[in-house]
Amino acid sequence: MRILVSGGAGYIGSVVATRLLEIGHEVTVIDDLSTGHRDAVPDGARLVLGRVHDAGSLLGDERFDGAVHLAASSLVGESIENPEKYWENNVVGTRRLLDALEARGVPRIVFSSTAAVYGEPERVPVDEGASAHPVNPYGESKLAVDEMLAGDGAAGRIGAVSLRYFNVAGAYRGRGERHDPETHLVPIALQAALGTRRGLVVYGDDYPTRDGTCVRDYIHVADLAEAHLGALCSIGAGAHRVYNLGNGAGFTVREVIAAVEAVTGAAIAVTVSGRRAGDPAVLVASSARAQDELGWRPERPTLDEMIRDAWDVLRARGSR
Ligand code: UFG
Repeated sequence: MRILVSGGAGYIGSVVATRLLEIGHEVTVIDDLSTGHRDAVPDGARLVLGRVHDAGSLLGDERFDGAVHLAASSLVGESIENPEKYWENNVVGTRRLLDALEARGVPRIVFSSTAAVYGEPERVPVDEGASAHPVNPYGESKLAVDEMLAGDGAAGRIGAVSLRYFNVAGAYRGRGERHDPETHLVPIALQAALGTRRGLVVYGDDYPTRDGTCVRDYIHVADLAEAHLGALCSIGAGAHRVYNLGNGAGFTVREVIAAVEAVTGAAIAVTVSGRRAGDPAVLVASSARAQDELGWRPERPTLDEMIRDAWDVLRARGSR
């Protein structure tokens, strides 16, 4: 199939694009490189440089059999300080992209949604029936797009799947996290282990969890990419399905730090600060629906493997 990947120069998007090419699809990436990296776009993919807002004109008369839409602003903290950026980039940008896809008769889209739509969940593991009450504009913007897709699906304009990612980690074929600034726990801990960052601040140790720090469900980026491939093939005309993607196991911040220390052999200097705004105490996924309906199974479920793969890429890069 000919697949458009928005955000294909980013961490997850570049892994999705790589896997699509590996199994024989043609890939066009649209990315404005505002946070992505040109060298993350895999060889063999065509790069269209620009925003999804302008997809209609940038893509000319190119035709696609499907799209994977990952281009977004994705920092919870930034979304609280600058909510309009999230509505503009995530909601308005997606509307424009959908207009361009629907005008071309593209039949299917896989959307990169997030566990952040659930906010502080009522129960864990979180399944797709849980009510969505986002606690930050990032989660609100992604939920708005999920609803937009449901509406377009019901109107028969496109078939869609929303994949609600929990915490993504690891690396695949040299592609790891490379954000600037970096805000995510695993790469920050690895930078501290490598010595390119002085220690790590734990955002709160007074949560109602086993050691007081937040619990998250980490999923390997390669397993996540595989779910996109399965989702693309599963999409029926005019339907919208939602799938949670995680491993169903939660780790505290302190447990992640200990795992990074074990894999790297380095001691990480840790200090504790107050809570970070917008952080739920516990987020753990039930991915039973993805397993039942997509036949998806995580093949790299251990935290150690995610950390080792990310560590190898970080060390090869030599810094950051
Ligand atoms: N944390 C620290 N110190 C740090 C960085 C993170 O203590 O320096 C803690 C956070 O407070 C949180 C946990 O580590 O408790 C994980 O934080 P991340 O920033 O790595 O990830 P988040 O859980 O905040 O967010 C991730 C994605 C979001 C997505 C969310 C959904 O980055 O896009 O998962 O669960 F919305």
